Amino acid sequence: MSVVDSRPQQPIIRVQGLRTVLGGHTIHQDLDLEVRRGEVLGVVGGSGTGKSVLLRTIVGLIRPAGGTVEVFGEDMATLKDGERRACETRWGVLFQDGALFSSLTVAQNVEVPLREHLRLPQRLMDEIAALKISMVGLPASSGAKFPSELSGGMRKRAGLARALALDPEIVFLDEPTAGLDPIGAAAFDELINALQRRLGLTVFMVTHDLDSLDTSCDRIAVLAEKQVLLTGTMHEMLAHDHPWVREYFHGPRARAALAAETAGPEAHA
Ligand SMILES: Nc1ncnc2c1ncn2[C@@H]1O[C@H](COP(=O)(O)OP(=O)(O)O)[C@@H](O)[C@H]1O
Ligand SMILES: [Mg+2]
Repeated sequence: MSVVDSRPQQPIIRVQGLRTVLGGHTIHQDLDLEVRRGEVLGVVGGSGTGKSVLLRTIVGLIRPAGGTVEVFGEDMATLKDGERRACETRWGVLFQDGALFSSLTVAQNVEVPLREHLRLPQRLMDEIAALKISMVGLPASSGAKFPSELSGGMRKRAGLARALALDPEIVFLDEPTAGLDPIGAAAFDELINALQRRLGLTVFMVTHDLDSLDTSCDRIAVLAEKQVLLTGTMHEMLAHDHPWVREYFHGPRARAALAAETAGPEAHA
């Protein structure tokens, strides 16, 4: 908490009364969500509940049918093109499918947002790419490699390096550990935690991974019935009696998280 500024902090993302309609189907109805600056928010929900659509709506790729989306205190719907582009430089996105350009090297992929938003000499872009590649724990040699030459976990890291290219304040991650083995997933969680601490990032992370939720997330938002049904800590999720929440957080996949929870708070250190 800042000593200089004692005003209550405005949420960095504020979604109010959001209605999203795609292909004639209402995906979100009256959805409210706030993300606080500096927190890691985990977004969970059954398959097809609209987690990815929510992420894409917040970053302006899908236009809401109703309600408001504010990021950095700006109402996204009222921004002019230039203002929107300025906002886009302040967040980075790792989409669900990773989506690195297969014909570009890892370093060139990281440079894509730099080219899109800044005019920098090539040498400086190369330096920034190398820095981001090292920040996500990839060896320097991977910069010259093509995505197809990397493992799944390394590709996720490369995608994260690209998301960090413009020194964003918010990083949006859509199921970053999906498809990784448990060790790779745990390493990625640690990386997110370390970056969040070091850079003071705000992280909006869609995930199915209960371990990620437990180790990385300050708060969890549950998407169900077209809304954010509840937000809270892992502890609060475990105490909640909504059927989906119970099933999800107490089902067989929840064993590890539950074990950590019952072992007491020191297990979370
Ligand atoms: N571009 C689109 N056009 C029409 N329907 C879509 C589109 N994208 C997603 N949907 C639908 O919206 C719903 C939510 O999708 P999504 O957000 O991808 O779910 P998830 O929670 O698994 O990420 C699904 O029923 C999906 O079929
Ligand atoms: Mg999804």
